[in-house]
Amino acid sequence: MDKYEHERDGQYDFYRVFLPRVDSTRSVEELLGDNNDGVLNGNLIEFKLHVSDLGAVLFQCIKYLSALRIKGKSVPANILIVDVNASTIWLYRSAHYLIEIEKPYCGGASKNNAGFIGGNAEEIVHYDDPLGAERVVSLLRESNFTKIHIDENCIVGWAERFYREVPTARKEDFLGDDTGKHITIGEIRKPTRFARYIYPYTTQTNVKFHYLMDKLNDTLQKKNLGAFYTPDLYAEKSLELVRAAIARVPTGNDYIILDRCAGTGNLEVRLTDEELSHTVVSTIEYYEYKVLQELLGSKVRHIIPPVETAETFRAGLVAGSDALSKEFVENPVIKQYLDDPECTIILFENPPFAETTSLEHQKRGAGALSSAWKRSYVCEEMRKEVKGTACNDLGNAFIWSGFKYYLRQPTDSYIVYSPVKYWKAQHLIDREFLGGFAFNRRHFHTNLDACIMCAWWGNEAKQNEEIVLKGYDILPNGILAEAVVLPVKKVHELFSTKYYDKTSFAHAEENGILTGLNGLEADGSVKRRIKPLFSNEMIGYLVADSVGFDNPDAKSSLLVAGRYNGNGFFLRKDNYLEKLPMFCASRYITYNRAWTERGRIMKSADGAEKFFADVASGTLSQFLLKCLLFTCMEMQNHMRTFTGSDGRFYRNELCLDTTNGETIASRDLKNLALNEHEKVILRQWGRVFSWAKKTEKYDSSLTYGAYQIYAELDTFYKDERTGDIVYDNVELHTALAGLKALVKEYYNAEIVPVLFEYEFLK
Ligand SMILES: C[S@@+](CC[C@H](N)C(=O)[O-])C[C@H]1O[C@@H](n2cnc3c(N)ncnc32)[C@H](O)[C@@H]1O
Repeated sequence: MDKYEHERDGQYDFYRVFLPRVDSTRSVEELLGDNNDGVLNGNLIEFKLHVSDLGAVLFQCIKYLSALRIKGKSVPANILIVDVNASTIWLYRSAHYLIEIEKPYCGGASKNNAGFIGGNAEEIVHYDDPLGAERVVSLLRESNFTKIHIDENCIVGWAERFYREVPTARKEDFLGDDTGKHITIGEIRKPTRFARYIYPYTTQTNVKFHYLMDKLNDTLQKKNLGAFYTPDLYAEKSLELVRAAIARVPTGNDYIILDRCAGTGNLEVRLTDEELSHTVVSTIEYYEYKVLQELLGSKVRHIIPPVETAETFRAGLVAGSDALSKEFVENPVIKQYLDDPECTIILFENPPFAETTSLEHQKRGAGALSSAWKRSYVCEEMRKEVKGTACNDLGNAFIWSGFKYYLRQPTDSYIVYSPVKYWKAQHLIDREFLGGFAFNRRHFHTNLDACIMCAWWGNEAKQNEEIVLKGYDILPNGILAEAVVLPVKKVHELFSTKYYDKTSFAHAEENGILTGLNGLEADGSVKRRIKPLFSNEMIGYLVADSVGFDNPDAKSSLLVAGRYNGNGFFLRKDNYLEKLPMFCASRYITYNRAWTERGRIMKSADGAEKFFADVASGTLSQFLLKCLLFTCMEMQNHMRTFTGSDGRFYRNELCLDTTNGETIASRDLKNLALNEHEKVILRQWGRVFSWAKKTEKYDSSLTYGAYQIYAELDTFYKDERTGDIVYDNVELHTALAGLKALVKEYYNAEIVPVLFEYEFLK
């Protein structure tokens, strides 16, 4: 009879027996990373209840090793296939399978493995006797690795590992070669740290990695350069705009296509030789510059600087090519064309993207260096003419300076990649829009679905309220999807200027409490930006901050007391209903995750006049109650009931738990003429609440909203054996999941259309 029915049990027993003899500091959980059965020292171990086809299991292991190489992890020299019921191990050496390991594989490693023909195992060990067991111990103690070759598939993984392990390393320490004037031989060419794991990369230059050079930047460069390369399909599509711009060149004129931030030249590679003979490129990063030279140097009209000299390399950057410097703005090679009235200028760029206020940027650590560009000549000049947040964005410095210094004639053009915000909300430019595309940001080496505009601007002044883009995603099979039509409307007014409540309370004290984003009282360690006001006229505190949807959960809060870092307003009992559409609007992106929405749709108060009029006339009374119902059910409503450190009892009034009497919401919702959808939601809420009441932690003195139930009563633990999450109250968890699905449907069907109608969403 079999000893084990479950592979996992055999695996745990194996480790429990051998791990203390091999490495008592490691736990079983630690070994089970990377979706394989374990890597221990120089061994990849794969467990089976019964091994029936060694070839198939070996192939599965090869796929695991392939994945390790791609992630920049050392490839163990030994492959141990373990049959837990037969207490038998087959030992293979990975070096014999290097060719297969160095191929990338798609799909699950455990699928489609039959038919693989490997060699015989080097050794078979039966570990149910003492000699066999000792042999297993000695194998598991081996710490040898198979050296792999660096190629396009794995270089990013190894670069990330290198920068992680050597935080002070710069790009040259990893990628450096012996061509050019600046010579540092990098790790890939002369491995020291990775000497046991990789073969030296013998190709002389880095040109093979041209499409990955942004991902190979060291951590510091990543922060500074905002490099997100354009995928080939998008670069090619945008050439349609470039060619339309060339078609406008007046007869007899020369023209140049200028890209001040060309990276390794992705935008230009598909230009014809004739078009390239009009092209001028530059880029700031040294290794990009070298690849750019190699790929396009012989074809373009100019590259800046024209040739590499002993002075070119400057701390990883290229001297003279910082597009934001005065030196570059006055560069004589470009200036000769600007000064020539018979030359048309076509700027064609995907400027670096780094918004210092964005969470993305802050997460990466907005140190002084990462905003050094703010002290550049162009930024200082821009600040003289442009006020406000537009100056926080590196891309805007390129866009502004493009129009300021390079476009001079009516037929000049600027074809530029950037999120629409600079035009839509920041009103950075007021020129004629001649056409444009929207592309999915996910394909620019990021993992975010969002809309990036590639717009063709002319140089004639023109105020547009709306522009229309053709949007293209890239399909999994690597072709452009069908175009979708995407209007983009300008936003003028913010929630905070038109809708935030600024009236003061008749009776307010400053001895209340402040809360954190999770709805509980904030502890003393947080930096307080507002006063802890308390008033009986208050219902809570609402934040619906910022025009866009970056970091939506921090920009959208509903809390029983002031949020420690402010950015919202205290909600009053007497007019809270008309404020709720702001909260509803701020949830848009959570329920509409398509790439076309983020970055294109924003929050606005442009419909305020109509909204206030329709609120006053009562036209919107049912809609406001729908917003209330949504608010009561929405998980981002973080109002909770608790006693504060000020001794006051804070009750969540925007929920439907009436155990302790009516809440403001339950009282007001009586006026909603319920449709079927709403009845279903209320029934589901009833289900949630009845299961909530049965949980151990339920406290009948509290008034619970959906979020407080989720956070305090829908408890779970992690099963140590399986690693799975186990919910203590499955019925409650199920009911909450059902509620979430219903709320999403309701929101999109009944709330969103009106939010657009009144331009809360625009
Ligand atoms: C978004 S990437 C675009 C690269 C390439 N054009 C493409 O589309 O794939 C922006 C590029 O600007 C470069 N860059 C960043 N700051 C720069 C500056 N101040 N001057 C010139 N180039 C800069 C980065 O190194 C990066 O290659």
